Amino acid sequence: MAPIMDAIAGMRVLLAGDDDAAVSELRAAISLAGAVPAACSGDPGDVAAAVAQDPPAAVLVVGADPVALRARLDPLGLQGGPEVVPVEDLTRAGAPFDAAAARRLRALIDRRALRMRQVELEAVVATQAVDSRRDLQAASVDLLRRLAAAAEYRDDNTHEHTQRVGDLAARLARNLGHDDRTVWLVRQAAPLHDLGKIAVPDNILLKPGRLTDEEFEVVKTHAVLGARVLAGGESDLLQTAERVARTHHERWDGTGYPDGMAGDRIPIEGRLVHVADVFDVLVHERPYKESWTVMAATEEIRRGAGTQFDPEVVAAFDGLGASAWALLDAQGAP
Ligand SMILES: [Fe+2]
Ligand SMILES: [Fe+2]
Repeated sequence: MAPIMDAIAGMRVLLAGDDDAAVSELRAAISLAGAVPAACSGDPGDVAAAVAQDPPAAVLVVGADPVALRARLDPLGLQGGPEVVPVEDLTRAGAPFDAAAARRLRALIDRRALRMRQVELEAVVATQAVDSRRDLQAASVDLLRRLAAAAEYRDDNTHEHTQRVGDLAARLARNLGHDDRTVWLVRQAAPLHDLGKIAVPDNILLKPGRLTDEEFEVVKTHAVLGARVLAGGESDLLQTAERVARTHHERWDGTGYPDGMAGDRIPIEGRLVHVADVFDVLVHERPYKESWTVMAATEEIRRGAGTQFDPEVVAAFDGLGASAWALLDAQGAP
């Protein structure tokens, strides 16, 4: 009586080999096990075509080279594809394909299915993690943008100043050869430079004409106050924004505020935003000043190289040339 070999009953098994006698003997044994056999030559191209046409649960290799077959099947992206098994791995030397061989084959098929399921689940988990990180990042960027807008709402209710400073500072960073990540961080963090102005009273912030020394001292507190609001953040973005808020009024020669830092001890983000901020304020009207022409503002930036501004940032500003003009034109400035 034939042994019961129901381990692979109903499964489609592709037999690959060029030894017709061996293949048909195996086909008979597989049929006896209740599986559904199909056969093709041992040529990797034939096997790949047969698998693509009607994917089997396993490919049983008779005499052909299993490594070559796997190599041919893998690039097809058949991740959930069949196990490729040399028949001699399942049977004892010279013995026919029997119930024990069927159980071994079934175990291999199950193990592969499990592995595939695991790969799928890992991919799902990875995608969800990326999605939620992306959502979180988008939410924080959005929140920071609103915060920046709130800070400048009273003296720039179009919010354009903060965004223009972000654009220009990012262009300067790009021109200085900073990597994409740094450029992005500068772009997002720069609009928060004046966050601390939230705490400066209207009668000072919106005062037409010159400020008294005492009033100016109040305005100067915005650098430290803004940095304090942003302090302690764990993300690169918040840390960059904190540095920008604290150092965007430091001067290259050490006579700026709040810390009187000099030269390249001033974080680069602060040096970039300083130039972008001053330029943008000059070419736009403020309660206390008329707008300057772009030429006059550009001259002022150049004059400040090495005293007020980092000379390399000024060189990058000069290097922008036409594109800085284009930026201003696009936003309707003079
Ligand atoms: Fe400022
Ligand atoms: Fe500003």
